[in-house]
Amino acid sequence: MSIDYKALVEKYGSPLYMYDFDYIENRYVTLKEAFAGKKSLINYAVKANSNLSVIQHLAKLGAGADCVSIGEVYRALDAGVDKYKIIFSGVGKRDDEIEEALKRDILMLNLESEAEMKRVELVAKKLGKEARISIRVNPNIDPQTHPYISTGLHENKFGVEIDMAKRMYIYANKSEHLNPVGIHFHIGSQLTNLDPIRESAMIVADLVRSLKAIKIDIKFFDVGGGIGVVYDDETPIAEQAYVDAIAEATKGLDVTLMCEPGRYMVANAGAFFTKVLYEKINSGKRFVIVDGAMNDLIRPSLYNAYHKIEAPGVEGEKSEADVVGPVCESGDFFGKNVALPPLAHGDIVVVHSAGAYGFTMASNYNTRPKPAEVALQGGEDRLIRRRETYEDQVRLEKEFLR
Ligand code: LLP
Repeated sequence: MSIDYKALVEKYGSPLYMYDFDYIENRYVTLKEAFAGKKSLINYAVKANSNLSVIQHLAKLGAGADCVSIGEVYRALDAGVDKYKIIFSGVGKRDDEIEEALKRDILMLNLESEAEMKRVELVAKKLGKEARISIRVNPNIDPQTHPYISTGLHENKFGVEIDMAKRMYIYANKSEHLNPVGIHFHIGSQLTNLDPIRESAMIVADLVRSLKAIKIDIKFFDVGGGIGVVYDDETPIAEQAYVDAIAEATKGLDVTLMCEPGRYMVANAGAFFTKVLYEKINSGKRFVIVDGAMNDLIRPSLYNAYHKIEAPGVEGEKSEADVVGPVCESGDFFGKNVALPPLAHGDIVVVHSAGAYGFTMASNYNTRPKPAEVALQGGEDRLIRRRETYEDQVRLEKEFLR
């Protein structure tokens, strides 16, 4: 796809997030097709990119939503996701969130502890309802990814051990206010090795079989998210191999296969455009200072994550530079030692693969307005979130001045 970066930045300003909706569609369809012939539901992990138009785009294709707060559940509903395709996960759900989720009648709540199960039972009882639940099992498998985004080991805070899960299912099955319909695991993010997923699926499928033996019938088998993407030179997991591994593990079980991809859907669909403000050299080291910053895209600062950076259309001999923003932190950078041509004020720098965990992790640090977001679809561009203003930022404070 050839993108007229300059025209987009002229039209919508800088810094700017751009998402290619055709690419997102292609990802959804490719993954869905890999499930052909099997009962399946793809629950887009809203946390990766929760712009309403992005969710709506996926909802129209048939996607469900994996949500981690009641706010995300509201987003999914507002964007038109079918309520019976929405699941609500997370280690710490508040009573009011549980109550709202039950009132909205979403597909299920994914439980992460025994204490939470008791809480959900209590809230459901108060409402005179039966809560559809799944339990997040921690299979204790090393996902071989960055420790910050690894979640499937016992040392992580997520899910419950197999034995505990079994006890919880037995309890839930007897409860008037709980209906155990699903099982879930999610071992980590940006996974490029299929083996840990396969192993986890086998462990969890065995649990489903043992539950079946005691007449607890699990209908939804949810393998979480985590499919890795190419930021640099990674070899991603092939969609068909992924589905085949899950299908093989669940052989003989009559379950709907579910997954919760976030990054897979949107990371490579997105880019972050920022304008060059200045160049400078400090003791021989070259810095390119741009108008975007860590508050807009924090992945490099937070995880030392790599994002490919380019200055499209700018000619000249390249030399290495750190690409940094205006925020008052040494950690405010997009890339270190990036080969770039000499850059002038106003040139555009593109930070690639920024569609996932970009805007959703943005903040207003340094009272910087959050960037605008733009969709590209069928050769057209359109605004899907306007740039914040200073007034937007102080709206909740101004009335309290005295
Ligand atoms: N399901 C559950 C229960 C999750 O915790 C996550 C991500 C997903 C699905 C979606 O995972 P994905 O398919 O996107 O890998 N901020 C970090 C990533 C944190 C992921 C948290 N959980 C980053 O920028 O790399």
